[in-house]
Amino acid sequence: RNEGSGAFAGRKLNRRDFLKMGGAGLAGAALLGSAGCGGGSGGSGEIIFSMGPDTDGSIAKLIDKFNKQNKGKLKASHREMPADTGQYYDKLRTEFQAASGDISVIGTDVIWPKQFAPQNWTMDLSDRFPASDQKDFIPVTIEVAEYEDGIFSVPWCSCPDAGLLYYRKDLLDESGISSPPETWDDLKDMAVQVSEEAGVQNGFVFQGSNYEGGVCNALEYIWTHGGDVLSEVTGGDVVIDSPEAAAGLETYASMLSSGAAPEAVANWTETESSANFYNGDSVFIRYWPSLYGGFGDPATTKIKPDQVGIAPIPVDKPGNPTYSCLGGWMMSINANTDIDDDAWKFIEFMTSAQSQKERVIIGGYDPSRKVLYDDPEVAEATPVVKLAKDVLINNVRSRPVTE
Ligand code: GLC
Repeated sequence: RNEGSGAFAGRKLNRRDFLKMGGAGLAGAALLGSAGCGGGSGGSGEIIFSMGPDTDGSIAKLIDKFNKQNKGKLKASHREMPADTGQYYDKLRTEFQAASGDISVIGTDVIWPKQFAPQNWTMDLSDRFPASDQKDFIPVTIEVAEYEDGIFSVPWCSCPDAGLLYYRKDLLDESGISSPPETWDDLKDMAVQVSEEAGVQNGFVFQGSNYEGGVCNALEYIWTHGGDVLSEVTGGDVVIDSPEAAAGLETYASMLSSGAAPEAVANWTETESSANFYNGDSVFIRYWPSLYGGFGDPATTKIKPDQVGIAPIPVDKPGNPTYSCLGGWMMSINANTDIDDDAWKFIEFMTSAQSQKERVIIGGYDPSRKVLYDDPEVAEATPVVKLAKDVLINNVRSRPVTE
C-alpha cells in the first residue's frame, strides 16, 4: 500500500492520525523486507465486503457487475453477516480485536462510524471523500459519518432510514376512521378497535426485542414525550432519569398492557414484525421505509400499496413535534486491510448514483444521494420517500453517542 497517497496525504495531522501513521509506517517498512508475501493479514487480494443478508439479490447483482467491469484486476465478494445489527457488531468486534484485515469493506450501520473511528478500526476517508463530494449526499447521513476532523463512512442505500408508522388504510376506512392517529393514545384506541372490527389478530406491532431495533423504538417514545438520553444543552450529561423519559417508557409498556400490541412483540425484531404485517395479521406497524418496497410484490405479500398509509411516529399530545430514529447503512474501509485502494474503488462503485439507482429499483430502499430524489424511476420504485420526505429528512434524530 502506498502510504504517501493514502488517507493522510496533504492533511493536517491530529494526534490520533499521527499515531496511526506511525503504525502504518512500521508495517510498511516490514513489508519492504518481505516483498511478495502480501503482508498483513488480509493478503488474499479479494475485496471482501461484509453486510447483512442480501434478501433481494441486489448486492449479488452489483458485485457481479463490478467483477465483470474489473475482470482480471479486481474481485469482490459478499461475506454475509447476521441480520440482527447487534449480532453483526459482535462479529465485527471479534475481527477488529484480532486485527484481522480479511474484510476490507465494511457495511456499517449509521451508529458505527462514531464508534469505530475512535478505536482506529476504520480508515479516515477525508482525502478520498472530500467535502466537494460529500455535498451530494443527504446532510444527516454525512453528520453520522464524521468523527473529529475526519469522515469514516460513505452513505449507501437505505440511508437515511427513519421510523415510520404504517397503517392499513382499507381497514381504518371500514371502521369509519379517515385519518391516522396523531397521538400514542389515538393509536392505542384505533389498534384495539380496528383489529376487533376487522377480525385481524393484532392491532399494533413493532420491534420490541432487546437489541438495537428495540433501542430505536424506545427512543421514539422517549423523544416524543419530550425526554432524551443525553442532554443536547450540556453536551452529554445523562438525562434519561426525567419524568418525560419515564412517561415515554410508560406509554411504550402500555401498548402491551392495553392489548393494542401482542405480548410476543417483546421478542420481535424486523423479521417477525414485517412478516406479521405482510401476512395481513396487524393493522399498524412501526417500521423503516424499506417495508414499503414489499407491497404489491406477490412473492412478499398480498397487500397492495393502495391498502397502506404512512404517518409520522405518534406524539404525546396533539401539536407536539414528532421524532423518528435515524437508521441506515454505509460503507467503511477496515483500517487493517492491505488493499484500501481497491476497497475504495468498490465503495465508489457501490455508492455511485448509478449503482444506488439499480439497487433502489430492485429493493425499494431510500438512496443517500440527493440527485436520486428527483429521478422519476426512483420515485416510482420507492414511493415511500416522497410520501415521507419530511419525516425522513427533517424529523430524524440520531441515537446517543458517548465516548
Ligand atoms: C435498520 C436501521 C439500522 C438499525 C436497525 C435496528 O437496519 O437501518 O440503523 O440499527 O434497523 O434493527
